[in-house]
Amino acid sequence: MLNHIFAALPAAREDAILGLNAQFQQDPRPNKVNLTVGNYVNAEGRLPLQATVVEAERRMLARGDLHGYLPSLGLASYAKALERLTFGADSPRLHLGAVATAQAIGGTGALFLGAAFALDALGIHEIVIPNYSWTNHQALFEKAGLRVSTYRYFEKAQGRLLFDEMLEDLRSLPPKTMVLLQVCCHNPTGTDLTSEQWTKVIELVAERDLLPFFDLAYQGFAQGLEADAEPVRACERTGMNFLVSVSLSKSFSLYGERVGALHVASSSAREAGVIETILKREARTLYSNPPLHGAAVVAEILNDPQLEALWRSEVEDMRLRIITMRESLWKAGEALGVDLRFAREQHGIFSLTPFTAEEMKVLREEFGIYGIATGRIAMAGFTAPAIEPAARAFAEVLARRGR
Ligand code: LMR
Repeated sequence: MLNHIFAALPAAREDAILGLNAQFQQDPRPNKVNLTVGNYVNAEGRLPLQATVVEAERRMLARGDLHGYLPSLGLASYAKALERLTFGADSPRLHLGAVATAQAIGGTGALFLGAAFALDALGIHEIVIPNYSWTNHQALFEKAGLRVSTYRYFEKAQGRLLFDEMLEDLRSLPPKTMVLLQVCCHNPTGTDLTSEQWTKVIELVAERDLLPFFDLAYQGFAQGLEADAEPVRACERTGMNFLVSVSLSKSFSLYGERVGALHVASSSAREAGVIETILKREARTLYSNPPLHGAAVVAEILNDPQLEALWRSEVEDMRLRIITMRESLWKAGEALGVDLRFAREQHGIFSLTPFTAEEMKVLREEFGIYGIATGRIAMAGFTAPAIEPAARAFAEVLARRGR
């Protein structure tokens, strides 16, 4: 008797972001615009191949670097370079040796590893995330075994940060709850906390004995590489323990190489050593060891002062191009008599437009403008020729509301 165990399987739902990106690829219209995935494209609409990455790969090839296994925690020179990037070269915690870092499979892998560590080693069962957040946050934390609930962060129709509500919700959490805090370029709202607001959040988190889990996926794309890491560094100065997931997909345009890391900021070198043994076990049982190539490229760049300086200017150019796109979109809206304030007031890779799921469908089907059903558009996906048609489409959709 043959088994037919798969016959009754229902198909899983498409991913909210990747599914629409795949749909975009099938669309034959020449003027379609892809604002789905948070990919940074250059002025020609292509993913950049950064000069620093080309140079690093050239050196690696010239040396004949091999493709052996990495240790479970990953490439040490990569981990050390990322620690400096996240915490700052003069970080007291780094000097103490109190940060444990595991290379991770992109930001997603870092979040998963952090969740596994929290559950298995700390007995933490719950995480709170913003009411608008990256669509995969909830799914991946649940997959890791955590309960997920939300705190108020943003109100979409008016495009408002709900700061008082956020504080109120955080204040009501039981001690030891893990709190996901997106550090910069908040995904999807493009709305970050000010430094005064961060101070209040960090004070509250310390007072309530919550465990911050910072998600740092877009460092360099909001205010700049150093300024964007400031909330993490401010938390570090309190002496608190916390986690940070890092992704370098955008800043090195190494999307497919899965360059990420998890940092655990502890109180001493002894603690960090213990945490490393735990992360090593987690990594070994989940995937044995992380991929080498992307990490080696990043380490090559960040451990060479000249290449690092060039890379910093590459990131800055990307940041500035997004600002130009935002300003152009805002102005194109103004010229058409519509208020596209999300383009001007929000910043970074994403914006949350006020459009409903139905309106996003109209934008996609009638105008070939692809964003996410939640109303999120990737501002980093814009090129100059796409601005005017997009502004017209947005204006038309807004005008239909009144009809
Ligand atoms: C996004 O939110 O579009 C990116 O962070 C990429 C992804 O994997 O969803």
